[in-house]
Amino acid sequence: MRPLKMLQIGVGGYGAAWLRDFVPPVKARGLVETVAVCDIDGQALGEARDFLGLPETQCFTDAAQACRQADADFALISTPPWDHADHVAMAANAGMDVLCEKPIAASIEDTARIVRTARETGRRIAFTMTHRFDQAHSTLRREVHSGQYGALDYIAFRLTGELRRFASWGRFRHEMDDVMLVEAAIHHFDILRDLAGAAPASIFATSWNPPWGEFAGDSQVLAIMRFGNDVRASYESTACNAVSINEYFKGTIRAEFDKATLILDGGRLERMYYDPTGQEPVRRPGSGETVEPVVQDSFGNVWIIERFVQWLRGGEPMPTRLEETLQSQAMVFAALESARTGKQVDVRAIADWFGHLARP
Ligand SMILES: NC(=O)c1ccc[n+]([C@@H]2O[C@H](COP(=O)([O-])OP(=O)(O)OC[C@H]3O[C@@H](n4cnc5c(N)ncnc54)[C@H](O)[C@@H]3O)[C@@H](O)[C@H]2O)c1
Repeated sequence: MRPLKMLQIGVGGYGAAWLRDFVPPVKARGLVETVAVCDIDGQALGEARDFLGLPETQCFTDAAQACRQADADFALISTPPWDHADHVAMAANAGMDVLCEKPIAASIEDTARIVRTARETGRRIAFTMTHRFDQAHSTLRREVHSGQYGALDYIAFRLTGELRRFASWGRFRHEMDDVMLVEAAIHHFDILRDLAGAAPASIFATSWNPPWGEFAGDSQVLAIMRFGNDVRASYESTACNAVSINEYFKGTIRAEFDKATLILDGGRLERMYYDPTGQEPVRRPGSGETVEPVVQDSFGNVWIIERFVQWLRGGEPMPTRLEETLQSQAMVFAALESARTGKQVDVRAIADWFGHLARP
């Protein structure tokens, strides 16, 4: 089978990592070939052109023109969140399937536009929930769903960061509204939903920016959520603490079961079993038994693009396809509403509304 032809829209910033790190191993396996690129930034575009050896005619500064003229099977979109709805519509209306960077979009209105685009064009659309499919979270998922630890009771997520100075987390994140919920929480809620093993039911969130945070939007979030199977989760995610306790955007996750506690921290997963004799002393994080990691050929974005290509070639639907990712995105919009109103919000009402829009 020939490689699928790809147009990449947005080749600077994280798009450069797609270009240089994530796509090449998939290209080497004969699955994908980048045939055209687009970016409004001439320097990023020139670097992409040189890296790929593309002719000028396949390098565009206008996404609409790129979608009309590029001879591609699908578009990879890595532009800022408020451009996603336009770029997904341009690509899908030009007959391309779409793999788009997370979040689905920055606003509920733009997310609804993407749902309508999918319905009207019938194109396959998926998102890059990178963290859920890295090695550490794949190992945690296998253990959580193994059934060997009894009933899952609740999950605690903690990510503390020090990124307070302007542009230390990329310029646009310091200028946008609700940076932590819109840009980061989508990854974390997606992981929590996957681990809980049920659709999200409700969420209460509070968000703010402390006086020392050089952010236009809220950089600190605390939240409590509940899933359809009554699993609960707590969520702490911050960019303006005095120090980063976590690696860059890799949270610590503690899953509490009837018969064991699992802790994922710094890429290492450990387990500690319930002692029915009650003789165990207090257990400190780090003192548990290391869980063997999942081993497979690829993880993260390389796995995602491989999986996307398999889907386009008639394989199993992508786990990060639009209709699935909408559940995680609905959690973000529910959290935003909760933070604004101070009330607990029903996530199902938002997810159901997206579901209603998706139906012909
Ligand atoms: N999956 C992950 O783990 C992960 C990590 C980082 C960023 N992201 C996502 O990737 C996306 C891009 O983020 P970033 O950090 O690379 O942003 P960025 O601002 O650093 O880069 C965006 C690129 O898109 C280009 N661009 C902007 N508007 C454009 C337009 N109208 N047409 C064509 N090109 C345009 C810019 O010139 C730039 O080269 C965001 O959605 C972000 O959330 C995901």
